[in-house]
Amino acid sequence: MDVGARIGFRELSRTEIAPAAQLLARGMGDNPILVQAFGPDPEKRQRRLDRYYAQVVPFIQAKGGFLGAFAGSTLVGVIGTLRPGFCQPGPMDALRFVPSLLANNSPAGALRVKRWLDTWALHDPREDHWHVGLLAVDSDMQARGVGTKLMTEHCARMDTVAATSYLETDKAINVRFYQKFGYKIAGQAPVLGVSNWFMRRGARVEGRGETQEGKTQSLAAND
Ligand SMILES: CC(C)(COP(=O)(O)OP(=O)(O)OC[C@H]1O[C@@H](n2cnc3c(N)ncnc32)[C@H](O)[C@@H]1OP(=O)(O)O)[C@@H](O)C(=O)NCCC(=O)NCCS
Repeated sequence: MDVGARIGFRELSRTEIAPAAQLLARGMGDNPILVQAFGPDPEKRQRRLDRYYAQVVPFIQAKGGFLGAFAGSTLVGVIGTLRPGFCQPGPMDALRFVPSLLANNSPAGALRVKRWLDTWALHDPREDHWHVGLLAVDSDMQARGVGTKLMTEHCARMDTVAATSYLETDKAINVRFYQKFGYKIAGQAPVLGVSNWFMRRGARVEGRGETQEGKTQSLAAND
């Protein structure tokens, strides 16, 4: 059943961050990179993911924000984006992040998470971009049009400010999903033995389509 038509959107407030983290842990729990990083045991992985997202979600909220998709009053999907220049953790963020990572994972597990995030960081574009840090629809609501609605809303917001948007994914089915919104594959690399794709959606100026590479700011300024 397509529930997309009945979905409403709004920015998440601070008090909605914990439910968003729990939804992300449920919705993304089976993604291959997370299985590699947090282990094959579903229960242990879920516990580790709950704690991991409890750290990551406030970081994204502080450096960008979350848009929530609601069916009535129920949060059913979220997209978290980091604003240009803020997608990599600074030293203070790392100081907060590392102890929790070590407390909730084996040393080998914590190293796997570090290797994964370091590899993604290496691919990060140098140009200004909004970074889609997290996207998930709750596990029992997937394939019903919610993710499409969230991405449509995100892309409309990017177009309003003529911004480039960038993301990583570890699933081929998601590559096709993002391509529908104009994202193109900018790179591909194995991470912890899993195929990962790096995808970019160039800035668009309304009525003119995608701007040329590197001309985003000047075209936007000329508008
Ligand atoms: C990817 C995701 C956000 C898409 O949202 P959704 O509400 O399930 O998707 P929609 O119903 O709007 O659109 C369906 C499209 O999504 C893609 N898709 C990705 N994962 C899917 C899944 N588990 N089930 C169905 N479609 C999926 C397909 O391209 C599908 O297109 P098709 O119907 O032409 O095959 C959602 O499935 C999800 O949360 N998946 C798990 C977490 C994840 O991978 N997040 C993205 C991290 S990069």
